[in-house]
Amino acid sequence: GDLTDSASIMRILEQVKPAEVYNLAAQSHVAVSFEEPLHTSNTNALGSLRILESLRILKLFKSKFYQASSSEMFGLAKKLPLDENSHFSPQSPYAVSKLYSYWITKNYRDGYGMYACNGILFNHESPRRSENFVSKKIVKGLVEVSFKKRKCVYLGNLYATRDWGHAKDYVRMMHLILQQKKPDDYVVATGVEKSVKDFVNCVAKYLKIKIKWTGKGLSECAVDLNSNQIIVKIKKSLFRPLEVPRLRGNMNKAKKVLKFKPNYNFDKLVKDMIDHELKTLK
Ligand code: GDD
Repeated sequence: GDLTDSASIMRILEQVKPAEVYNLAAQSHVAVSFEEPLHTSNTNALGSLRILESLRILKLFKSKFYQASSSEMFGLAKKLPLDENSHFSPQSPYAVSKLYSYWITKNYRDGYGMYACNGILFNHESPRRSENFVSKKIVKGLVEVSFKKRKCVYLGNLYATRDWGHAKDYVRMMHLILQQKKPDDYVVATGVEKSVKDFVNCVAKYLKIKIKWTGKGLSECAVDLNSNQIIVKIKKSLFRPLEVPRLRGNMNKAKKVLKFKPNYNFDKLVKDMIDHELKTLK
């Protein structure tokens, strides 16, 4: 199916009559959404509405609906940690499109009594992440540097912080969200905040690359103390027109209601991504 094509969505839902629908389809890259705001909005915002409206027209009121809402919706929110009651302040066409879907999911739940839920997920990574996201870019880049297959990794804002969890944990949460008696919205996070620079340092540590940071602003870089080569540089074009400077979630509600215990922390996540990359390269 295609979320921009109502007929294809309607046809699939009518054929399958699904017990549960997980809407994970999106133009999911924040930076790309500044280049393709219309495509992003059509897919991410109206796409969710196309599913919900199809379920309503087809009278599939028993189908449960999960919407992949995003911590990006909090944007510039000043008070951390962020939970289900925090203020939204979206900072990109991507975040605005996700906010539309968040509200329309709530609307269909409240207005039509549909079992529709939002999982407000903070960043979640895994070895399957594609290279245009910073976690995979750093892991793959530094693994290649350590095997002398590449000289340098280029990054944008080193000082943005994110709350990074493992996709395997978060997908279990998505499932749990749809197994509750009542439909509701949940923040899914780890509660731990790390910067992009922390991510680089952690990957370098696992790969036993000793680095030293020097310079400031666009001249800031990481030098490999063994080879004396610069292995991380800053590129202006990788900064976004608007940035979400900090994200840290509070998942007390999910822990309490869903009784969820994650298997991964930040270090285990980074190690999992590195191990996969080393295996692939070898
Ligand atoms: N992609 C990228 N590439 N990001 C960089 C780079 C770079 O070279 N250098 C610095 N960053 C910074 C970004 O500016 C951002 O602050 C942070 O690294 C994380 O960027 P991404 O990995 O692209 O993820 P994201 O936080 O923008 O969005 C992800 O998480 C959201 C949940 O909060 C995506 O998975 C979204 O789809 C998801 O909703």
